[in-house]
Amino acid sequence: MKNLIVGNWKTNPVSLVEAKHLFNLIKRGVKNLKKTEVVICPPFLFLSELKKNQKPIKLGAQNCFWAEKGAFTGEISPLMLKNLGCDYVILGHSERRALGETDMMINKKITACLKAKLIPILCLGETEEQRKTGKTFEILKKQLTAAFKNLKLKIENSPLCVAYEPVWAIGTGKACDIREARRINNFLNNLTHHLPLLYGGSVNAQNGIAYLTQAGFQGLLVGGLSLKVNDFVKLIKQVDFL
Ligand code: PGA
Repeated sequence: MKNLIVGNWKTNPVSLVEAKHLFNLIKRGVKNLKKTEVVICPPFLFLSELKKNQKPIKLGAQNCFWAEKGAFTGEISPLMLKNLGCDYVILGHSERRALGETDMMINKKITACLKAKLIPILCLGETEEQRKTGKTFEILKKQLTAAFKNLKLKIENSPLCVAYEPVWAIGTGKACDIREARRINNFLNNLTHHLPLLYGGSVNAQNGIAYLTQAGFQGLLVGGLSLKVNDFVKLIKQVDFL
């Protein structure tokens, strides 16, 4: 399997012109990759325009709804994303969980995405408080079990990725210690029967590589850095040289 670098742009940038510019700069920087797949997850609004000229980058969404279509004001369905040419969808990001997304909703979304042949990137992670009180493994297991509940497919045979994103590391500049990340990687590997695992949370051009070489992850979920073209491209190239 290729290494996977996923850029989560979150609610950035604020115009299509800027989104195209950023996307094109990244694209130019990552030509001829051999061992790495790059996925950009822009705001929904920019997907169809970026799709027109996306190669070699794959596109992902940052969320989606679970129903295929119908009376669900304001929602975007997995089928719409698939029809647009999306390949991936980030699900259960902690910023969405903080807004009220539950394990049950995430479970429905994963089921719907697999049905639509989109690859879910399921995000898991403990808060600072949970970590301090020694609940990390318990929380990760609970989130994972709930997200995969009643999946008809065997998870090890499903096109799924799991991203370990400690909440306290997201956007804080405090990335997870490599030894701790290694322990969590082992734990999740056993639970997920070796699905591809990504690390996310304050990844930068200096610390990113070690999560693959020392902690056993197959890729990275990158937030802030994916908006900084030079550093993001530098990280992708390092990963491709591994
Ligand atoms: P960050 O965000 O890289 O800015 O910490 C990661 C994420 O939220 O996926």
